Amino acid sequence: MVIEARGSYLYIGDVRASDLAESFGTPLFAYDGDIVAGNYSKLARSFTYRDVEILYSCKANSNPGVLSILRDLGAGVDASSPQEVLLSIMLGFPREKIMFTGSGVTDEEMKYVRGELGVLVNVDSISQLRRYGRLFPDTEISIRVNPGFGYGYHEFTTTGGLTKFGIGLDSLGRALEIAREYRLKVIGLHSHVGSGILTVEPYARVTKLLLNLAKNLPGIEFVDIGGGMGIPQKPGDGEFNCVEFGRVISELVEEYSKSFGGIKLRIEPGRFIVGNAGVLLAKVVEVKEVSEGGSRKLFVMVDSSVNHLIRSVLMDVYYEVVAVSKANSPREVEVDIVGNLCMTGDVLAKARKMPRLEEGDVLAFMNAGAYTYSTSSNYNMRPRPAEVLVCGGRAKLTRRRERFSDLIATLEI
Ligand SMILES: Cc1ncc(COP(=O)(O)O)c(C=O)c1O
Repeated sequence: MVIEARGSYLYIGDVRASDLAESFGTPLFAYDGDIVAGNYSKLARSFTYRDVEILYSCKANSNPGVLSILRDLGAGVDASSPQEVLLSIMLGFPREKIMFTGSGVTDEEMKYVRGELGVLVNVDSISQLRRYGRLFPDTEISIRVNPGFGYGYHEFTTTGGLTKFGIGLDSLGRALEIAREYRLKVIGLHSHVGSGILTVEPYARVTKLLLNLAKNLPGIEFVDIGGGMGIPQKPGDGEFNCVEFGRVISELVEEYSKSFGGIKLRIEPGRFIVGNAGVLLAKVVEVKEVSEGGSRKLFVMVDSSVNHLIRSVLMDVYYEVVAVSKANSPREVEVDIVGNLCMTGDVLAKARKMPRLEEGDVLAFMNAGAYTYSTSSNYNMRPRPAEVLVCGGRAKLTRRRERFSDLIATLEI
């Protein structure tokens, strides 16, 4: 299941994207809940190994409607901040299915997450481990291992290797000594090597490595091989082969279990679950032709900006653009689609062939369900868009549009 056009119109579930723009205004994030559920189930079904837990990486999209769908399907949460932990608890995720994997974690954050919220901490460094041990001796922890290699679609999303993440293999012995000193029980080994991975091999490599380490940890309960499963973003991109992934990883864990006893397998997908389930809808405000020194360019200016799709400029992420009521019109004009910020770099899509566009046309930026709202900002004091979730043919507002009063709420005037 994907978001696609029927005739001239783009549909989200059974609702026309143009109707969503009309009812809820633009810019607007719209998610198809059935696709979220379908992606989760596809991953879950791919494993022949039975003891698997999917912790949804909610940094990708923490919309409460999306999270509630995943909670009802039995997912847990990979949380990267105390606030993500708290939101997950508020939405009813069981504490034992939430893990906090932070970076640069403070004592205060650990006191809150472990001490007050009772959630497992996945320790990212020797310093954090020592500080954790002093605060919470005799408790359980997980350790984030940096296996010394990374993968990803961009250097910014490659987390294994010479990066700030995890405890390197050469420091693992030291980590275990510290754990012993504070009588900490290492119940989990974790590794997330990067994002936008389209092949199974990196996961097989990580799984083997973690299982090999697990053999020497008597109290071990799970290995967590992270997220990072990619999605096709632009025409011609390959797909992540879920079935092969599930089969290969299942075989490795089954093999281990036969010799060393049962162990839970955890994965932490974000983008794979929500990426293709969301679009950003934006309205064309102006079509502006500019000529300079013999060259000419056509700018389509929309009421959104890179505030809402920051990865288009930060990491060169390609968002396919569809005119929601001209979905099958010939793409005969080359345009740059730009936003409403005072910044020349506010380019959402460059040199794209589009149908002839007019003021008032609504554009959908496709595959925009992951790392879009959750990475958005208020530059130029622009309020963030609203978010709607379409499920079973009905659209529900799951986050209202920001107001000026939200933007000034923290000011001391
Ligand atoms: C620790 C951890 N787990 C899981 C993920 C999810 O990655 P993705 O959305 O690419 O699946 C991330 C992303 O940054 C992460 O840092």
